[in-house]
Amino acid sequence: MKSAIAEVAQTYGIENWGAGYFSINPRGHLVAHPSEGDQRSVDIKLLVDELVARRVRPPMLLRFPQILASQVRKMNQSFRGAMKEFDYQGEHLAVFPMKVNQRRQVIEAYLEEAKKYNYGLEVGSKAELYAAIALDQAPESLLVCNGFKDESFINLAFVGTSLGKRVVLVIEKLNELAHIIDRTLETGVRPMIGLRVRLYTRGSGRWEKSGGEQSKFGLTTTELLQAIRTLREAGMISQLRVLHFHIGSQITQIKRVKAGVKEAARVYAKIRKMGIDVDHLNVGGGAGVDYDGSKTSFESSANYTLQEFANDVVYMVKTVCDEENVPEPNIITESGRVLVAYHALLVTNIIDEIETVQGLKNVAVTEDEPQVIVELHDLLKSMTSKNFLEYYHDALEHKDELFTLFDLGYINL
Ligand SMILES: Cc1ncc(COP(=O)(O)O)c(C=O)c1O
Repeated sequence: MKSAIAEVAQTYGIENWGAGYFSINPRGHLVAHPSEGDQRSVDIKLLVDELVARRVRPPMLLRFPQILASQVRKMNQSFRGAMKEFDYQGEHLAVFPMKVNQRRQVIEAYLEEAKKYNYGLEVGSKAELYAAIALDQAPESLLVCNGFKDESFINLAFVGTSLGKRVVLVIEKLNELAHIIDRTLETGVRPMIGLRVRLYTRGSGRWEKSGGEQSKFGLTTTELLQAIRTLREAGMISQLRVLHFHIGSQITQIKRVKAGVKEAARVYAKIRKMGIDVDHLNVGGGAGVDYDGSKTSFESSANYTLQEFANDVVYMVKTVCDEENVPEPNIITESGRVLVAYHALLVTNIIDEIETVQGLKNVAVTEDEPQVIVELHDLLKSMTSKNFLEYYHDALEHKDELFTLFDLGYINL
């Protein structure tokens, strides 16, 4: 017989979504572990009791910086493992997109671990850039500036470069180039430049529209070529170091990841063949989190692991580079949610419950009810573990019939 604790674990699917960070202890309490396979744990129930005794009232947000650090390590191990397996010549450089969680404690906890691997930051607005410039990141790590940029955003990025940060200004719109060129000529400061390409490939799931031809982000092929021409004319083509794309957050299907990387790697290769020494491919964010633990392509899940994501990214870039006979670029990832999703836990009181499926125990049906209801009730009474599928389909048909009859006014409430 299954123990009560095993039953609880199964009911809540903790082993499926907990990623080794959450489990249930012998007292039946939820516990958090600092990393996968680590026996040490904190008992969430006792922790919350203690906080309540100290007059901290729910809702409360508990953060586990060790889990965040563990995810950063896992990201590094995944890419290091993949690069070793495929004998990849470039490096992996991650940047954390600050918009995913802008809280100082979170960013500082991330940077603490990130500096071991030269991982940096990504900003999408001026406010984030101000914050990022003030933060202490590893000297070799990148500070990637995405998002639409006005003059003051660009000026600030130049300040960051002057302060010794490895700033990448990613061009999202052609009109950003003119001011970057002016500033470079005026100051002699030369930040790295990236171009965000608009891929034909889309992601999958809720943020699918961030990618594809109709997306509002990134340069079209014509604009890409125009940007290259403009940089050449300004004598700044050697600053073009990064090609960037992002086809959407929480990509649920690994085949979309592969398709996006393949297309982007091809664009990279063609640009290299134009004699331009772009040497970084930024594959954006999008690595999915399996929130519901189903390992499927549902919106709340992803049908791949972080290791599979890393393997496919590295393998795809390598394959295209081999075919095109161009050097393998350093790979930049901008994954956000996969690094931070597990490290925070919201604790709140349950005020009430809503049942979406009504209990079936008290259904009383007499022979006077309409035929369709009597038949539905018969199905319910005689359903077994062997016939449930057939009965379920019969029940669906009956349900349709029931609504049709109600619509036509033949059945009362
Ligand atoms: C340009 C860019 N990079 C990275 C991310 C982070 O994506 P994720 O949290 O899915 O990894 C986003 C979020 O949508 C984004 O717009």
